[in-house]
Amino acid sequence: MCGIVGFTGAQQAAPVLLNGLQKLEYRGYDSAGIAVLDGSTITVRKTSGKISNLVEKTDGGKNCRGTTGIGHTRWATHGAPTDINAHPHISNNGKYAVVHNGIIENYLELREELIKKGFYFESETDTEVIVHLLEMYDDGDAKKAVLKTASKLRGSYALGVLCSDEPRTIYALRESSPLILGIGAGENYFASDVTAIVTYTKNAIYLEDGEFARITPDQVEVFDPSGHTVQKKISRISWDIQAAEKGGFEHFMLKEIFEQPRAVKSAIEPRIRDGNVVLDEFDVSARYLQGIKKIIITACGSAYYAGCASKYAIEHLCGIPVETELASEFRYSDPLVDKHTLVIVISQSGETADTIAALKEGRSRGAKVLAIVNVVGSTVAKMADWVLYTWAGPEIAVATTKGYTTQVAVLFLFALYTAKKLGRITDERYASLIRSLTSLPRRVQQALDMNPSIPALAKEYHSFKSLFFIGRNTDYAAALEGALKMKEISYIHAECYAAGELKHGTIALIEEHQPVVALCCNKDIADKTASNIVEVKARGAEIIAVAFRGDQRILSLADHVISIPKIETMFSPLVEIVPMQLLAYYFAKENGCDIDKPKNLAKSVTVE
Ligand code: F6R
Repeated sequence: MCGIVGFTGAQQAAPVLLNGLQKLEYRGYDSAGIAVLDGSTITVRKTSGKISNLVEKTDGGKNCRGTTGIGHTRWATHGAPTDINAHPHISNNGKYAVVHNGIIENYLELREELIKKGFYFESETDTEVIVHLLEMYDDGDAKKAVLKTASKLRGSYALGVLCSDEPRTIYALRESSPLILGIGAGENYFASDVTAIVTYTKNAIYLEDGEFARITPDQVEVFDPSGHTVQKKISRISWDIQAAEKGGFEHFMLKEIFEQPRAVKSAIEPRIRDGNVVLDEFDVSARYLQGIKKIIITACGSAYYAGCASKYAIEHLCGIPVETELASEFRYSDPLVDKHTLVIVISQSGETADTIAALKEGRSRGAKVLAIVNVVGSTVAKMADWVLYTWAGPEIAVATTKGYTTQVAVLFLFALYTAKKLGRITDERYASLIRSLTSLPRRVQQALDMNPSIPALAKEYHSFKSLFFIGRNTDYAAALEGALKMKEISYIHAECYAAGELKHGTIALIEEHQPVVALCCNKDIADKTASNIVEVKARGAEIIAVAFRGDQRILSLADHVISIPKIETMFSPLVEIVPMQLLAYYFAKENGCDIDKPKNLAKSVTVE
């Protein structure tokens, strides 16, 4: 969704801002703009469509001179993605310019009030009220105007502000929307996301909700909502610029798929010490765990499917019932949660609005919350009682891959850790599962190496209008994620069904040559899935099966087999998803889709 970036220093601001915005493209956007301050003149350039349009409009930044500026990528919420609705917005007197991520919930009443006072609105956005409020409260002190304006806003925002009275100064404010400050030498930055600034600096300050910063080339001051100075610690960003670049791959998604052996290793390896799972960040007592009667896993999209994929392992090993709930449903479901419930929220970005709301809902009912998150310092990470980071590194492609597999890996660690702490697993079984867990990065690598025929499969089937994904139990969980990957990047309708449910309705849709992707890696119920394959084959379906290498029965039933190495059944979703990610990738490539930035989607869904 929207991204913001700000810069002040000695060099020209526009090229730095354009570069930062390009790094934020992956979040999804439909217009972009910059405002640059030169002496006391603010120049605004904005346009709908791609950042390349903005680069053209500004002649690579050359016709937008000045060493201080702010930039924005907009993902339209209030008003169409037009040039006028694009940010930055400028005050009627031309003195303030603003970029904004998030939603101002009380914008309608503020807009009415401002119109009555004679302010003129150009756009349909909620953001424009901010810039007029700044003008209204301006009495020659920009800091005061910023403070007063912030006190009037309800909702979520990360804001960047320029004031023509204060050359070489940018203001940055945060409320329930990510914002970090980048600290350089004689130049400083802000951004909604480290990827926008990591080319220039690895020193960062994470702002808390309600805090705002006044940034000049030589100084960064942070204030609380009453305007008092807050001392902040400078943190080191661990992600490097290579991680946010394609590194020779055609797409970020492909690079991230191939990064999975390393990413899964980073999630697992440091947490296995002397043959034990050690979760320093979730160091709870056995007594607390004994009091847990139910676990609710809540999240959105693939993160939700990561919960589905691990439910079986947690229930099986820990003997605690697990409910998986979509965060957007959970928040309005009047859920049965109390202090005997552990709520686990999962989020790659840590900024998903529905997931944050679900977290708050669980908390308000007395549950403790464990978060599984990739982005350090994100809102979910800050709000939870405990955080287990997935350590996947930056995920740039909109469709998650390593984000998902590392979430599943951490949930498996959680399952094993909890089972051991509760004394519900024998030493032999524990040791054997630890061995299986530590082998997962290797298994993921093998699954990548084993399937050179996937591009050819995509060539054969990419023009079908619909696909079916079927599986049971753990295979069903992985199939849900496989179908989602296919839909979101190749735009092919992919229906996922629990294999046993087919004959209760969906089988009516099976016709001659209909491709069906059948996941058959759960050996406990392989016979049952095999029968479902026979049923759809009898009606003309063509089967692409995902199975353990050398599974003779599946080889004889399926038209094509995608193989994965043999692994412990309960851990299989983490490995079987990998060739399905490749399948979706090559289908999308054959269909000429914008793989890293699928239409209508955003990387981080910060609005409801
Ligand atoms: C699909 C995908 C989305 C996200 C979902 C939650 O490939 O990426 O379904 O999984 O929007 O996002 P996070 O994990 O950031 O909360």
